Parts: sequence; C-alpha cells; structure tokens
Amino acid sequence: MRTDVPQSVESDLYQLIYTSRITSTGLSGASTLNDIAETSVHNNQKNDITGILCYGNGYFFQYIEGSEQALTNLKNQLLIDERHKDLKTLDFSAINERKFKDWSLRSIILERWLLKDPKVKHLLPFKPYSWTDSETEQFLMALQRYYEQKQGEPKLDTQPIKYSALGLTLSKVVGEHQAFFLIQTVLAALIVVTLLWVLLADKLGF
Ligand SMILES: Cc1cc2nc3c(=O)[nH]c(=O)nc-3n(C[C@H](O)[C@H](O)[C@H](O)COP(=O)(O)O)c2cc1C
Repeated sequence: MRTDVPQSVESDLYQLIYTSRITSTGLSGASTLNDIAETSVHNNQKNDITGILCYGNGYFFQYIEGSEQALTNLKNQLLIDERHKDLKTLDFSAINERKFKDWSLRSIILERWLLKDPKVKHLLPFKPYSWTDSETEQFLMALQRYYEQKQGEPKLDTQPIKYSALGLTLSKVVGEHQAFFLIQTVLAALIVVTLLWVLLADKLGF
C-alpha cells in the first residue's frame, strides 16, 4: 500500500534570512570572502546547514536552512563576527522543505548575475535593508531560479569564490567612476611625457 507522506520531510527545519554590512575589518582582509566561504562550507556540511550567501554593494544577504539549534548557534557566531555588522534578521521561521538542499553554502557576487534576471533588475543597486517583504521574497525566488538553473551543472559549492573584498570594492569604485579614472590616467601620462620632454630638452640643449 502506498502512503502519500513525502520521504524527505524533516521535522525540525528552519530558515534564517538576514542582511548585514561589511565592516572595514571585512574589507581589509585580502581574502575575507574566500575565508568565509571556506569555513562555512566545512562547518555547514558538519551541521547539516544548507544555503546561499550573497555579497554586493557592501552588503551581505544570507539565506540558510537547518535545525533550529544549528541556526541559532550559527546566528550567535555571526553576531560576534567583526567582518560584518548591523545584522538584521529578515526571517527566522519553520519551513517544510529545503530550498538549497545541495549547497552547503554557495557564495555569489550579485552584480554578476542579478542584472541578467529581468524580474529582479529593479532591486539594483543592492540595498537589502530597505526592501519590503515582497522584495525580499522576489529576491529569494530569483535565488531559487538560479539554484534550479545550476542543478544540471557540476557541484561547485566546495570551491570557494576567488576574489578579495578589496578587489570587489575597487572594481565597484572604478566601475562607477570609469570616466574619471580614464581622464586621470591620460593626465598622468601627459605629465610624465612633459617631464621627460623638459629633462631631455635640457640635456640635449634644445
Ligand atoms: C557574512 C558572513 C556569513 C557567514 N556564514 C557562515 C556560515 O554559513 N557558516 C559558518 O559556519 N560560518 C559562517 N560565517 C563565519 C562565522 O561568523 C564564524 O566565523 C564561523 O562560524 C566560526 O567557525 P570556526 O569556529 O569553525 O572558525 C559567516 C561570516 C560572515 C561574516
């Protein structure tokens, strides 16, 4: 006789969603994001936690799922982690099934793919503190679409992300002020050429 009870239902399953700001400590570490990813993948596997960590525009957004105790313990760790601050819990509640069951922690930089999803383009620039519940929900759904897209691909969550927080910040600043940097570079080149010209002219007696 067949029963209709799904086999994989976990009785003690919760989700924790929060956002936080990267600190100067976080930014000053050459490989903060890689370090977080490495520790998290290892710990989360051990503690049966799955989820996703997003970084963009100086903010973290993390969705994690697991037992209430495991998430509470992790939250306590997160609250004293000096690489970020102003942790704002967006949700901590019971759920029926995991959304990211194959990812002990996938880490992503938002701008790389958020722009490609027309349904959440309007959430850029990434400012999760000011989101309404519905915007948080839309963003989560986009993350799930991303998860589903990646399901067919080889497992990647054990490979930490390869970038530094400083690199990220620099690329963001440079990206926003490209014209300014271009003009500065051209001016610097002109100054060098002029100095060389003056020196050479002096030496060669022009
Ligand atoms: C934004 C952010 C997200 C993090 N996510 C996790 C996580 O999912 N799992 C985890 O174990 N540690 C995570 N950490 C690290 C924890 O705050 C803490 O440093 C770590 O759990 C300590 O582990 P350890 O005692 O094994 O060194 C995160 C830290 C930051 C700043």
